[in-house]
Amino acid sequence: MTRSLYVAGTGSFAAEIAEWAADAAAEIYGLIELQQPQRVGSVVHGMPVVGREAPPPEGRAVLGLGGDRQASWRQLEEAGWLAGGVVHPTAHIARSARVAPSATVGPQAVVGAEAEIGEHAILSRGALVGHHTQIGSFATLNPGANVGGNSRVGVGAFLGMGCVVVNGISVGAGATVAAGAVTIRDVPAEVRVQGVPAQSYSPG
Ligand SMILES: CC(C)(COP(=O)(O)OP(=O)(O)OC[C@H]1O[C@@H](n2cnc3c(N)ncnc32)[C@H](O)[C@@H]1OP(=O)(O)O)[C@@H](O)C(=O)NCCC(=O)NCCS
Repeated sequence: MTRSLYVAGTGSFAAEIAEWAADAAAEIYGLIELQQPQRVGSVVHGMPVVGREAPPPEGRAVLGLGGDRQASWRQLEEAGWLAGGVVHPTAHIARSARVAPSATVGPQAVVGAEAEIGEHAILSRGALVGHHTQIGSFATLNPGANVGGNSRVGVGAFLGMGCVVVNGISVGAGATVAAGAVTIRDVPAEVRVQGVPAQSYSPG
């Protein structure tokens, strides 16, 4: 958990991450604008907005935006930002679990025994990660996503609100599991699934 940091993004997601960090007694120095340079110098959600160029010495950033989070992090890293992370005080993390320092773990999220949470992954409000489950870097578990034990969620995968990934399942890198889906079979990389039981589909 980083004690003083900037949140990358200026949208509602960034406001939410800033709240979690404040609850965890972190000091938020400001928001980093990645898309709309005209916002730099303004105040958004009560926080000053800075550009990504010329980070302050030892400036640490946590991703507070959706979309291509890997690309956003690359931009920050190239500009010299260091990675920060947030763990909400109401999260429950098993002592044997390993949470990367740049991961974000939200309110009432639960991480089971021997689970691994990768760099820049986000477990949103009430997300559940079962024992011995691996969550890849940059993966997003939206509120209430429930991943059973002994499962794997690949790099950059997106799990919608309230979905279920039953135990022992592999969700590939960059895959999308729609909100409310129940995934009972492996999901290949980059594939999108929805429904109960989850089936692959093509976006409209
Ligand atoms: C999966 C998701 C991203 C859909 O985006 P998409 O891939 O662009 O899909 P589309 O919106 O084009 O919809 C494609 C089809 O899937 C259906 N669909 C979309 N989401 C669905 C869902 N969660 N469950 C079942 N069907 C769904 C649509 O009705 C549409 O069906 P149609 O072709 O018969 O009309 C979105 O529905 C979702 O689940 N988002 C997660 C939201 C979330 O967790 N937000 C976090 C807020 S804090």
